[in-house]
Amino acid sequence: MKRVDTTQCLAHVLVCVNQRPNSELPSCAKGDAEGVYEAFRRWLDDSGLRTRIWLTRTQCMGWCHIEGTTVAIYPEGIWYRAVTADDCTALIDEHLLPLLEN
Ligand code: FES
Repeated sequence: MKRVDTTQCLAHVLVCVNQRPNSELPSCAKGDAEGVYEAFRRWLDDSGLRTRIWLTRTQCMGWCHIEGTTVAIYPEGIWYRAVTADDCTALIDEHLLPLLEN
């Protein structure tokens, strides 16, 4: 086993894009999950921060029973549900841009 070097990583954004085909159960993919993921991905590509802020698509993180799309941001450990692509700029401004100021 080899430990991954995370020393350059300022934050890790997890976006649930889980879908449940042929199911009545809720899932983030039934909301705006792909739009949320793409909004973060586009910002990271445009800002050249992909190596500093990691972005990961996930399976169910357990909050879709209320309302997805679920997003988690570490190291803060902040979780949101009912996120839409329109919310991403506010999340970036509040949680990611301040990390670049240090
Ligand atoms: S499907 Fe996204 S939190 Fe459950």
